[in-house]
Amino acid sequence: MVVTGVSRTYPAPAGPPAGVFDVSAHFGPGSFVTISGPSGSGKSTLLNLVAALDHAERGSIVVDGTDIVAAGERDRASYRLRTVGCLFQDAPLVGELSIANNVVLPGLLAGLDRRAAASRAAELLDRVGLQARAGHFPGQLSVGQRQRAALARALMNRPRLVLADEPTGNLDRATGHQVMELLASVRAEGCTVVVVTHDPEIAEAGDQHLRLLDGRAQS
Ligand SMILES: Nc1ncnc2c1ncn2[C@@H]1O[C@H](COP(=O)(O)OP(=O)(O)OP(=O)(O)O)[C@@H](O)[C@H]1O
Ligand SMILES: [Mg+2]
Repeated sequence: MVVTGVSRTYPAPAGPPAGVFDVSAHFGPGSFVTISGPSGSGKSTLLNLVAALDHAERGSIVVDGTDIVAAGERDRASYRLRTVGCLFQDAPLVGELSIANNVVLPGLLAGLDRRAAASRAAELLDRVGLQARAGHFPGQLSVGQRQRAALARALMNRPRLVLADEPTGNLDRATGHQVMELLASVRAEGCTVVVVTHDPEIAEAGDQHLRLLDGRAQS
């Protein structure tokens, strides 16, 4: 992934505008990238741009040869569904669906038939250690279990890129470690993994580390 001169600004009622300004970075395919910086430094803003959940005002973000800033909404929607998998601090699962159906959902949206999607969901739930919880609803799971279910869902369509915004922020040390191990295993399969973190130990573990300060990349 190559990020070049990306900006997204929010006017502030008083003082200078906030957001990210002219950020450039080159992340090799299959690398484990960490992003750190103080609260308000633009980490989530940048991640949302790379996830194509938000639109950069300037610059380009090229993933697998496609610039998702210049791409049309149709291509951006396909990118969100098929190329990228997202994990946030609070796993936003659909409360009315079982864990298995939460994981199946992006597969069905991408056109998999129900049987193929169910079989892949079972495989993924097994991988994150939740096979026994497949029939439970999100409200019946612990925070760490929900985070692992969200990871299974993020992996459903075999993304090339996994973006995680403080995925261990709400977890105890042991559970946080489990989630990081799972992300490391995803990376070992050739996926690029980008993790926003406040944890210096995790930040240092990345093979590429981007530090943001006041919306700008620090060298
Ligand atoms: N929707 C918005 N409207 C206005 N300002 C925003 C919006 N989203 C973010 N900002 C501002 O942009 C700046 C960067 O926010 P961002 O959420 O990216 O920070 P962060 O580095 O993720 O912080 P944290 O570690 O607290 O999660 C902040 O000053 C924030 O107030
Ligand atoms: Mg944030």
